[in-house]
Amino acid sequence: MVAMEKAGGSVGILVLAAGKGTRMKSESPKVMQPLLENPMLHYVLKAFGSVGETAVVVGHRGEMVQSYLSRSWPDVKTVWQREQLGTGHAVMEAQSWISRFDKVLVVNGDMPLMTEEIPNSLLEAHEGGCSFLTMELDDPEGYGRVVRGAKTCIVEQKDCLPEQRGIKEVNAGVYLMDVVPLLDSLKGLGRKNAQGEYYLVDVIEAFQDLGLPAKPVVVDDPDSLLGVNDPAGLAQVGAILRDRYVAKWMAAGVKFVDPKSVWIGPDVVFQGEAMVYPGVQIWGNSTVGVNASLGGFSVLRDVSIGENVELQGYCFIENSTLRAGSKAGPFCYIRQESVVEEKGFVGKFVEVKKSLIGKGSKVPHLSYMGDASLGANVNIGAGTITCNYDGKSKHPTTIGDGVFVGSDTMLVAPVTLGANSMTGAGSVITKDVPEGALAIGRARQRNIEGWGKKTTEGSRDDDK
Ligand code: UD1
Ligand code: CA
Repeated sequence: MVAMEKAGGSVGILVLAAGKGTRMKSESPKVMQPLLENPMLHYVLKAFGSVGETAVVVGHRGEMVQSYLSRSWPDVKTVWQREQLGTGHAVMEAQSWISRFDKVLVVNGDMPLMTEEIPNSLLEAHEGGCSFLTMELDDPEGYGRVVRGAKTCIVEQKDCLPEQRGIKEVNAGVYLMDVVPLLDSLKGLGRKNAQGEYYLVDVIEAFQDLGLPAKPVVVDDPDSLLGVNDPAGLAQVGAILRDRYVAKWMAAGVKFVDPKSVWIGPDVVFQGEAMVYPGVQIWGNSTVGVNASLGGFSVLRDVSIGENVELQGYCFIENSTLRAGSKAGPFCYIRQESVVEEKGFVGKFVEVKKSLIGKGSKVPHLSYMGDASLGANVNIGAGTITCNYDGKSKHPTTIGDGVFVGSDTMLVAPVTLGANSMTGAGSVITKDVPEGALAIGRARQRNIEGWGKKTTEGSRDDDK
């Protein structure tokens, strides 16, 4: 915003996103390709969105981009470019939107590594006319070359003279232009070039023909201007983004045993120091409390992890809350608005769905808790299962404070176990259990003397 005032006048942001992205070999438009769970376009809008009003030029599978924008960026306008005749043509199609502003920042939609400093550096450097970002690349292949001279211009790779191919300064695809001369320059654009397209870069010469400056602004962090053209490029950019988020949280005190193996989504928040073991992934709107420890290969999405929570390896947790000091894993699956209260424990091979595990309560081994509500200090024996589904609907199980559920109990819902009650191991509980009672629901054991000897004698085959 400070930079905007310095440059003076209103600024519109125009993102070019109508191209097909042929090399991506995908049904989806290039700007919708996923990067750390968001479409590529998300990152461009995030970097530029705070600068001013924004419009996106859509074309190829444009309805897909448009519906994403209306869902996630309702303030962003769309401009249609029905036929994709080049970047210059894309800007022509947006003329009536552009004409409302004093300046327009035009940016290619396929550069997701851009940061908020990028538009600001351009706004600060702008001296009227046209300013555009350039970078020095060891391998300039594919980019437009910046040919500096009395009249600076950009020559596309396919139009380069042999002596221009070696130029290492390239056009990044970000331009700040005064609107009145831009609209004038667009009138003169032609398609006489190797690709038969209207090139936006040709306006750079046109500005100079009008006696206005056209200023290349060199960016010394070319990584942030990397364009994505194919799946390999998408993976490369994804890895750089991953490194950025991990580095940001390391700087905030989070320790990573193997930073290269961890994936952290853009909206994840660590509230202080924490320990992250190899192979962890955290996505969505997740928060991780102070001193939490995230065991290896755990995958978390939309979770709230409290302070001092300890996850062993291979925990899968979605849309759930683990409060301070609770523990989980290894190998557990907690999902659908489940809550593990303070000091609760969800252990080995346990699935918890839409359930509340009360304060200090434990589900240590091989259990399924679905639509269950457990009070405080409950102990669930190994192999216990809530039979919550009768083939038609889901039913609740309610377990009071201090209940001790014997191993391998089937809790046929709807059912309630009163506070401090117990169940015998192997019971099938179909009726409510009163407070403090012991419920046993299984066939009484009968021992038949001599039976074992009788049956094994005839059948024993020592040659087996
Ligand atoms: C463009 C620049 C090149 C620069 C490079 C940086 C031109 C002529 N060339 O080349 O100098 O080095 O970016 O990455 O501008 N698009 C439309 N409508 C179209 C064509 C493209 O909206 O008709 C959009 C695409 O969706 C994409 C952006 O414009 O987001 C750039 O198009 P692309 O075809 O990738 O341009 P480059 O050939 O890379
Ligand atoms: Ca490109």
